[in-house]
Amino acid sequence: MANDNKQEMMEKIVSFCKRRGFIFPTSEIYGGLANSYSYGPYGAELKNNIKKMWWKKFVQKRPDIVGMDGPILLNSKLWEASGHLSGFNDALVDCKKCKKRFRADHVVKELTGEDMEGELEKMTKTLQAGLKCPECDGSDWTEVKNMSQMFKTEMNGVDGPVYLRPETAGAIFSDFKNIVDSVRVKVPFGIAQVGKAFRNEIVARNFIFRIREFEQMEIEYFIEPETKWEPLFEEWLNQQEEFAISLGAKKEDLRRYEHPKAKLSHYSKKTIDTEYNFPFGFGELFGLAHRGDFDLTQHSKFSGQNLDYFDPVNNKRYVPHVLEPTVGLDRLILTAICAGYTEEKLEDGERVVMKFPNTVAPIKVAVFPLMRNKPELVEKAKEIFGNLSEQFMCEFDDNGNVGKRYRRQDEIGTPYCVTVDFETLNDHAVTVRDRDTMAQERIRILELENYFKEKLS
Ligand code: GAP
Repeated sequence: MANDNKQEMMEKIVSFCKRRGFIFPTSEIYGGLANSYSYGPYGAELKNNIKKMWWKKFVQKRPDIVGMDGPILLNSKLWEASGHLSGFNDALVDCKKCKKRFRADHVVKELTGEDMEGELEKMTKTLQAGLKCPECDGSDWTEVKNMSQMFKTEMNGVDGPVYLRPETAGAIFSDFKNIVDSVRVKVPFGIAQVGKAFRNEIVARNFIFRIREFEQMEIEYFIEPETKWEPLFEEWLNQQEEFAISLGAKKEDLRRYEHPKAKLSHYSKKTIDTEYNFPFGFGELFGLAHRGDFDLTQHSKFSGQNLDYFDPVNNKRYVPHVLEPTVGLDRLILTAICAGYTEEKLEDGERVVMKFPNTVAPIKVAVFPLMRNKPELVEKAKEIFGNLSEQFMCEFDDNGNVGKRYRRQDEIGTPYCVTVDFETLNDHAVTVRDRDTMAQERIRILELENYFKEKLS
């Protein structure tokens, strides 16, 4: 896609999300809050569906993975141990002419193609050597400085500063001992968590791709230190890719990026990101890192608690190593939206249709009476809505004509529409219309529930 088209596609998607109740700029009546968003009714459904799919695949169906749900505010010592308090920084630089603020490594990469992440002096020199500001063409830059990404807050005014967690992983490590002691888990095993994380990003951008308050879905997978980890690592990469494909992403829009050895933390053996081809270009969707025994060792040191694992079969004690598959939920939502958004030419015009897989679609079935001013049709449609909504997320719609209702449901990606017409009153059957093929078939009301169970499973 050419750059102008990519920009245009992103703008279309952002305005579509607002217009159709998926995602809005937050607190808009007060002028909004920079790059912060609320999920509207369909966005919230989409988010819940993706969360449920992830939990099902990686917790419910895995005998070796358990879930947990820790708080956002944690003891600050945890962030000292993890290195976040001293080292979770981004490099910032300001253009003195237009006063715009940039993430220095991003602007340097954009202007030179070179990755200088972490090299503050080199970035300052490079920018001050005459690179032009992408916003105003000026070339007067401040020095590049580090800015902490940690959001600081207070608790009861006494207990020192606390921090909004910058990742969900922290509580998994600090509760490792409680989980091992209370649940029958045996290495290799994983602990999974879904929840909010907060990062004071210098520049939030690309809609919900980079935001300051977001949700992560993380697993810490503990292994015996001598385990041959490479096949497991490959298996996790495949599982991540499989999950993205189950949301509608095409395989050719996914690629792997291995972090160069020189940029890896000293404890990490390998890190590979799985990137998705968003309209603004490839961006990180999943991360997968081999973190060695760094986390448990650090938390043991800072807490004074023994976090060894005892292997009763081989009668040995060790600090497990960990593989960490992680993903941002908001980025998965953006992936599902970008992958599903389709503009189609029809014989009688055009339509926008969200080709979500059935499990992802916010609404599974829409139920309509053919005419809203015929009480007998409305009553029957409401009865069908009542029955189906026990099983599936449904919507009742009697606004406008049936053609307009179909278009509305196509746009939000509803796989099936059910219309109650005059014949229904005699043959006890309804018209079921398929979103993608637009084909219609007559189904008996008594068979509807099983029909959709089969279609939507
Ligand atoms: N515990 C490891 C960890 O947090 P990360 O690569 O910094 O690793 C994990 O974050 C995932 O969280 C990323 O792969 C990305 O999908 C998501 N993520 C990170 N920062 C984000 C942001 N500012 N907005 C939205 N999602 C973000």
